[in-house]
Amino acid sequence: MFQGVVKRLCFAPNSSVSLYVRHFCKKSHRKLRISEAISSSSSSQLGVNITVQGWLRSVRPQKANIFLHVNDGSSLQSLQVVAGAELNNPLLTFGSAVEVSGVLKKSPHKTQPVELEADVIRVLGECNPVDFPFKIKKRHGLEYIRQFPHLRCRTNVFSSLLRIRSEATSAIHSYFKDNDFVQIHTPIITSNDCEGAGELFQVEPSSAHDGHFFSVPTFLTVSGQLHLEAMAGAFSKVYTFGPTFRAENSQSRRHLAEFYMVEAEISFTQSIEDLTKVMEDMFRSATEHVLAHCVEDVDLFHRHVTPGHRETVDGMLKKCFPVITYSEAVDILNRSSEQFAFPSDWGCDLKTEHEKYLVKHCGNVPVFVTDYPYDLKPFYARDNQDHPQHTAAAVDLLVPGVGELCGGSLREERLSVLRARLEELGLEDVNSWYLDLRRFGSVPHGGFGLGFERYLQCILGVDNIKDVIPFPRFSHSCVL
Ligand code: 4AD
Repeated sequence: MFQGVVKRLCFAPNSSVSLYVRHFCKKSHRKLRISEAISSSSSSQLGVNITVQGWLRSVRPQKANIFLHVNDGSSLQSLQVVAGAELNNPLLTFGSAVEVSGVLKKSPHKTQPVELEADVIRVLGECNPVDFPFKIKKRHGLEYIRQFPHLRCRTNVFSSLLRIRSEATSAIHSYFKDNDFVQIHTPIITSNDCEGAGELFQVEPSSAHDGHFFSVPTFLTVSGQLHLEAMAGAFSKVYTFGPTFRAENSQSRRHLAEFYMVEAEISFTQSIEDLTKVMEDMFRSATEHVLAHCVEDVDLFHRHVTPGHRETVDGMLKKCFPVITYSEAVDILNRSSEQFAFPSDWGCDLKTEHEKYLVKHCGNVPVFVTDYPYDLKPFYARDNQDHPQHTAAAVDLLVPGVGELCGGSLREERLSVLRARLEELGLEDVNSWYLDLRRFGSVPHGGFGLGFERYLQCILGVDNIKDVIPFPRFSHSCVL
C-alpha cells in the first residue's frame, strides 16, 4: 500500500508534490495528529521524522526562518513549525491547509514542549487572507463568528466549544451506561404532540401526494418521552439523547427550533427524589468529566469569553442542589423587592426572570422546584391528589445564568385518572395507545428531559444558545 501511494504521487505534475515524494522516498515519516506531536516531549517521537496536516493559525516570516502554527482540531494548542526562509511561500497564509514533514524536536521555548523542524511544506488548500472573514492575531467575538456558521469551526473558540460538546456528549452516555440505563433510539418523526403545546413542525413529502404520506398527520418530535414511557414498560431504566424540534417563534437566548435533549425514564419509582438524584448525579458527573478532560478548552471560555465563570461552576459542584416547592418559590418571589415584568402569583408559570431570581436567592447554585400547579403541566404529569392545592408531581431544575435546564415529572400511571385527564383535554383518541401502557402492567414511573445546549451554556457561561450548537436553527433562520 505504501508503494502504491508513492507511485501515484510520483506521477503528480505539481512540483511541491514531487519534492514531497523525493523526500518521502528517502525517509519514512510517521503521520501524527497535532495533539500526539505536542504530547511527545518525553517520548520516543523526539528526533523522529513525522508528517502533520492541518490549517495555519499563524505565520511569522523572519529573515532566516519562517515560523508557523499548525492546528488540526485535535487540541486547542497548535504545533509550532520552524523552517528555513527558503521554504517560505506566498501561499502560506492564515487559514490555508498544509502538510508539513520534518523532525520533531524539543523546543527551546518555555511556552511549547516541542517544535517541528520542517524540511517539506506543502500547501494543500489556499486561503485568501483578504477575503477570509477571520484575521490573524485577532480574537473575534462569538457574535461576530456566528455570522459564518460554515467557517466558525476554524476559530480557536468555536473549535474548543465543539470539542467540549463532543466530550460532554460522551460523558452523558457514560453516566447512563455506568448506571445501567438502556439507550433507546426514539423516533424523529412522530404522530403525537408530547407536550401538547402545539409547537409542532409538520412532516410531509415535498412532492405532491394524495393525503398524508403516513396516512396521519406527522411531526418532528418535540420530546421522546412518550416512546421512552412505552419502553419503560419493559426496561426499568431507559434514556435517549437526540435532536428535538419546537416551532417556538422565539428569538430568545435560550430557545432554538432544533436542539438536543437528554431524556431518562425510570420505572418503579414513586418519588420525585429518585428523579432529582439522577438529574443531579448526571449534571455533576458530566461536568466533572468535562472539567477534567477539556482543561484548556474550558479555560479558554472561562478566561476570555466569560471571565469569572469558573468560580460559579466550582460553586455549583460544591453544594447539594437545594429543593423548594413551587409554592415556596412563589413566596420568595412575592417577598422580594425586585420589580418583575411578569406576575408571580400562585398559578402563573415561572418566567426566566423569576427562575434567575430564584437561583440567585438560593446562592447561585442549581435549584429544584417541585409540585407545580396541575394546570400548568402536560396531560402526563401525576396528580398530587393529597396536596391541599391542586399540584402535579413535577420538577424543574433551574441553573445559574440560564434558568430552566431540566423539566420532569412522575407520570400519571393510574388508568382512571389518566383517562379522565385526557377526556378533559380532548386528547383521548390521539393517545389511545398511551392508555394501553396503563392497561397492561402499569407501574409508577417518572422521568425528565435536559436541554443539552442549555447545559453547555450553564457550564461555559455562554449567554446565547446559538453559540453552543454547530448549526443553529431558529425562526427566520436556517442557514446551510
Ligand atoms: O421542559 P420540557 O419541555 O420537557 C419535556 O419535553 C419533557 N417531555 C421531557 C421529559 O420529561 N422526558 O423540555 C426539557 C428541557 C427544558 O428544560 C429545556 O432545557 C430544553 O429541554 N428546551 C429547550 N432548549 C432549547 N430550545 C428550546 N426551544 C427548548 N425547549 C425546551
